[in-house]
Amino acid sequence: MKKRSCDVLIVGGGLSGLYTALLVDDRLKVVVVVKNTVSQTNSHLAQGGIASEMSTDADLLSSHFEDTMIAGSRLNDEQAVRVLIDEAKENIEQLMRFGVTFDLDRAGLMHTTKEGGHSHARVLHSGGDATGKEMMAPLWKEAEKRKNIDIVEDTMVYGIVVENGEAVGARTLRKNGETIHFQAGHVVLATGGIGALYKKTTNAAAATGCGIALAQNAGARIRDMAFVQFHPSAFYNGESDSRSFLLSEALRGEGAVLRNIEGALFAKRYHEDGELAPRDVVAQAIYREMYDTWADYVYLDTSPLGAEYAKKRFPTIAAHLNRNGYTLGKDWIPITPVEHFLIGGVQTNLSGESTLPYLYAVGECASTGVHGANRLASNSLLECVVFARRIAQTINKKPGRTLEPQKPGRLLQSARFDYAPIRRKIRQLMEEHAGIVRQKPGLLEAQKGLRDILNNLRKHENHHRNYYETLHMTIAALAVIEDALEKETSVGCHFRLI
Ligand code: SIN
Repeated sequence: MKKRSCDVLIVGGGLSGLYTALLVDDRLKVVVVVKNTVSQTNSHLAQGGIASEMSTDADLLSSHFEDTMIAGSRLNDEQAVRVLIDEAKENIEQLMRFGVTFDLDRAGLMHTTKEGGHSHARVLHSGGDATGKEMMAPLWKEAEKRKNIDIVEDTMVYGIVVENGEAVGARTLRKNGETIHFQAGHVVLATGGIGALYKKTTNAAAATGCGIALAQNAGARIRDMAFVQFHPSAFYNGESDSRSFLLSEALRGEGAVLRNIEGALFAKRYHEDGELAPRDVVAQAIYREMYDTWADYVYLDTSPLGAEYAKKRFPTIAAHLNRNGYTLGKDWIPITPVEHFLIGGVQTNLSGESTLPYLYAVGECASTGVHGANRLASNSLLECVVFARRIAQTINKKPGRTLEPQKPGRLLQSARFDYAPIRRKIRQLMEEHAGIVRQKPGLLEAQKGLRDILNNLRKHENHHRNYYETLHMTIAALAVIEDALEKETSVGCHFRLI
């Protein structure tokens, strides 16, 4: 076992983790640990864009505020939403100073798109539909130049070290079997979402809910885990369990429409904004249409875009569809809603601090309160950067702590064991009982199944990466189920039939 120390330990190398690292005072030693490799994060997959008013016009800012509150069924934390909107422009400008570029229109101004729930076009994008990838590349380049930032790949955190009621470090396990205990002045969780708990998701495979489980095990408060957002339009790939390819909401923002398998338009029957209603409404409408027509999918009719424009505006999506025999801008594409984004998570305040001192959370694993019961499209990348910067500012202002040498902790034996069947069981329980529509008997069945799995895992501890990841998945899944049982009233993306 090795020991290392740093001022700031960041768990996760997606947008929120990396942006925090870049904004922490460069006299502080920062280590970013990444479970897999830096190119395998959810941030890389982001298509649509980042919502931001680039003007200081009070009416425009209040319309972004209002759209966010309406989408969230007004369960949002108003103060957090104000921060999100008011600090958007400064953060976009900071991203640009780091080398991020956004697509321009013919007049050379930033091109903006409308997405579901937005009263007008305010979504900035990059590389057409490759916003996440285009944002991450310059940030990585910048991080590589920084002498105070060390990025350690293939390293998973399996425990937060807590002493005297404060986070003081983390225990990590490398892919090569090496154990490293970090002592850290500040620990930031930026581990992303929970897509891997579902059979069908747009998320990267690394989204196993580790941050949620780590925070909960350390004693930090978790909230609103029932609020899991389903994206209305993932490319329908039959029964395959592989990651679902996202067909960005921006396609509907640019004119694509929804048709059921009989060819009928239906979105306006559910909401006056039709295809561009908030995401929870559209996903639930599609679910209903699929149910009523006995189908596993509906269609996204992309013909209103025209093939030439569609290929230029959405090159990544056009290429993917092309490989699958469809022409974007011409064809009706089979789509289905799938798990996309965790709204709940580790409860944080406006500085990104969890309820456990010196433990922070940012990005999808955090619950800042900005999204209420349903996230407004493209507010997630914005949340990442706004609250990452706040965490960095908080850390920069806090005086350093003198930490006692850590006790070695209990080291378990490591054994090879196949956890795949357990993971399949978790996914099956979640897909069946914690999807768009939830019912009490199903939730109770999932709770029982997950509790059994958890008891078994705890009985047979194993110092292996697959063990810890499966354990984290189970804890995060149980948190979703238990919150869904507790929330008996349907609101936003949590729909309880009974
Ligand atoms: C999309 O491009 O539709 C996803 C954007 C988001 O999740 O906000």
